[in-house]
Amino acid sequence: MQNQLIIFDTTMRDGEQSPGAAMTKDDKVRIGKQLERLRVDVIEAGFAAASPGDFEAIRAVAAAVKDSTVCSLARANDNDVKRAGEAVKDANRSRVHVFIATSPIHMKHKLRMEPDAVLEAAVRTVKLARQYTDDVEFSAEDAVRSEVDFLCRIFEATIKAGATTINVPDTVGYSVPDHWAELFRTLMTRIPNSGKAVWSTHCHNDLGMAVANSLAAVMAGARQVECTVNGLGERAGNASLEEIVMAVKTRSDIFKITTGVDTTQIVPASKLVSTITGYPVQPNKAVVGANAFAHESGIHQDGVLKHRETYEIMKASDVGWGANRLTLGKLSGRNAFKSRLQELGITLASEEQLNAAFARFKELADKKREIFDEDIQALMSDETVTPDAEHYKLISISAYSETGEQPFSRVVISEEGREKRSEARGGGIIDATFKAIESMVQSGTELLLYSVNNVTEGTDSQGEVTVRLSKNGRIVNGMGSDTDIVVASAKAYVSALNKMAAKSQRMNPQYGEAATANGTL
Ligand code: KIV
Ligand code: ZN
Repeated sequence: MQNQLIIFDTTMRDGEQSPGAAMTKDDKVRIGKQLERLRVDVIEAGFAAASPGDFEAIRAVAAAVKDSTVCSLARANDNDVKRAGEAVKDANRSRVHVFIATSPIHMKHKLRMEPDAVLEAAVRTVKLARQYTDDVEFSAEDAVRSEVDFLCRIFEATIKAGATTINVPDTVGYSVPDHWAELFRTLMTRIPNSGKAVWSTHCHNDLGMAVANSLAAVMAGARQVECTVNGLGERAGNASLEEIVMAVKTRSDIFKITTGVDTTQIVPASKLVSTITGYPVQPNKAVVGANAFAHESGIHQDGVLKHRETYEIMKASDVGWGANRLTLGKLSGRNAFKSRLQELGITLASEEQLNAAFARFKELADKKREIFDEDIQALMSDETVTPDAEHYKLISISAYSETGEQPFSRVVISEEGREKRSEARGGGIIDATFKAIESMVQSGTELLLYSVNNVTEGTDSQGEVTVRLSKNGRIVNGMGSDTDIVVASAKAYVSALNKMAAKSQRMNPQYGEAATANGTL
């Protein structure tokens, strides 16, 4: 059995299915480049059939990424597989990932298909996918609630049809480690051609066991783990990449297996994904949370100072903490700025955009002496709404607060080029600012989340604000950063309003309608 574990990152596909976490093409290229620096083996860049925009985003990742395999998801229908195959065909290494549900509940109520028809669609589409690439993965959605006999039949048939990776998903996060390991052992023993495919585990975290289940599968022989940065993903998320990788590395005595991941890129990847998606990382999150290596209690601090290993099982620097790269400063020129953007996978469409971004960088450098990669990432995240998608634009803000007085904010925005101004009082300056904006736009949205994080250390750090809004069941996240958190908050609110104003045509691959024989869904 191989002793290299394949890390399959699905942050840009399963992670993107989290409410409001939709990523633009540029966002995906930036994340794709960071995942390549992290040296993940496979990057699932999206679901090509979701929309023309998703197709183009996967193509762009396939063009930008050289070292990792780039993959697109496809339902088991001809159209999806063709779109997926086309989207990844120019990648240095490409994979098509075909899936169909196999549990009685999904086949009956979602697909409305008989098991034989499901098996036939799986085999037919795996064969079709092989016409685009030799690297084809097949997944049995909701495998956890599927009948083992049926899983054996469909996996044997899809391996015969050319699937090179067989993925067993716990789609609803229902399993527990012992059972999950047992399922892998059963499948790998009972399926006669099981040795011809790599076995993969894909776990959701509904009961908080996604990582434990994934690791149990590895102990039972799985050699690919599907996971996401920060554990992002639908509902409670997917197995978290950083926890899987660091568990395998830290307990190599138990797992006796390695990954190709450059662990020092974990924290930068975590920060980038959080910045782009607007999903903050909880402070006590393993490996990448702000407190993961902080020792609050006196006894721990004393122990760590005497001998680090008394309380630390990993080194902060091994996962990229404290590795902030001081990249640029006040005196850095336009060329230095441009080449750092390129190294970070950020490409700007025009010289005007570059000039505007450089002007903002100079503004920031005036306020903040040292500029780190994280600052540039946060700065550029404000640029992710392309000018033509910018329905609203923040022009200026002036806010006032004094002990004993009700805080006040005056905001000027433009709506499709027309300037508007308003002022409001509120419980605090942020509340007053959001009220002033709302009195102009009357969006009818509900504020679900407001959070502030510092981008780097120190009080001169930029504050990065996330605002999550919902309206008629649609959820969007807006992000804004600035050294002044009131300004960052106003930017984040306006960014969320712009996303809400933009039409979204994407569909969720797992909530699709029934598959037909030839598969137009
Ligand atoms: O959770 C799941 O079943 C999935 C499949 C599409 C692999 O994400
Ligand atoms: Zn999933």
